[in-house]
Amino acid sequence: MKIVVANLKGGVGKTTAAVYLSAVAAARGYDPVLLVDADRQASSAEWLEESPVEGVTVVEAPSERTLTRAMSRDGGMAVVDTPPGDERLVQSAINSADAVVIPTRAGGVEYARVAVTLGMIPARTSRGVVISAARLGTNDLDEAIAWWKEEKVPIWGVIPERVGIAAGPEARLYRQGLDEYDAVLRRVLRRR
Ligand SMILES: Nc1ncnc2c1ncn2[C@@H]1O[C@H](COP(=O)(O)OP(=O)(O)O)[C@@H](O)[C@H]1O
Ligand SMILES: [Mg+2]
Repeated sequence: MKIVVANLKGGVGKTTAAVYLSAVAAARGYDPVLLVDADRQASSAEWLEESPVEGVTVVEAPSERTLTRAMSRDGGMAVVDTPPGDERLVQSAINSADAVVIPTRAGGVEYARVAVTLGMIPARTSRGVVISAARLGTNDLDEAIAWWKEEKVPIWGVIPERVGIAAGPEARLYRQGLDEYDAVLRRVLRRR
């Protein structure tokens, strides 16, 4: 099972989603769980170096060659964190994906970048958006949810904005965040 976390835009919650999804996959008993870091910035690799997650092994794969190799391993679960901007590398990750998770934020400016990312996904590959750092009860969030429904893009999660998630590697993974991303993983697995 290969889950690619992608959005050509930066700062939308890709690394956070990749780390939490790999943690909940390990907690569900997937073995091995590889967190494949295709971002040269190595944020998820650094996160796990600073704050290891039980059952999750990081593979740094910042080039097409290393990425192809990391994603060709059989068995278990691979969660791929991708860089913003590098369309070629992201496309190569998406081409090998069983499912693509697209983190995004609420707010109209986000749709265009997601549309480009959606356009890169083969028709047979399941995909869904996850709204990161959502402010519950705001118009922005309600509009974003209505937009994705209208576009017929499944919403695999709405993750509330939480200080415990924003803490990143400086704290242990946030309990409520784990629950939220576990629900995302459940949807990913169901839609396959
Ligand atoms: N649910 C959340 N609550 C609060 N902050 C969040 C949440 N999800 C992501 N963030 C913060 O948003 C910023 C961008 O997230 P990150 O995962 O690094 O995005 P990307 O990998 O797409 O650049 C980070 O500072 C991260 O801590
Ligand atoms: Mg990142």
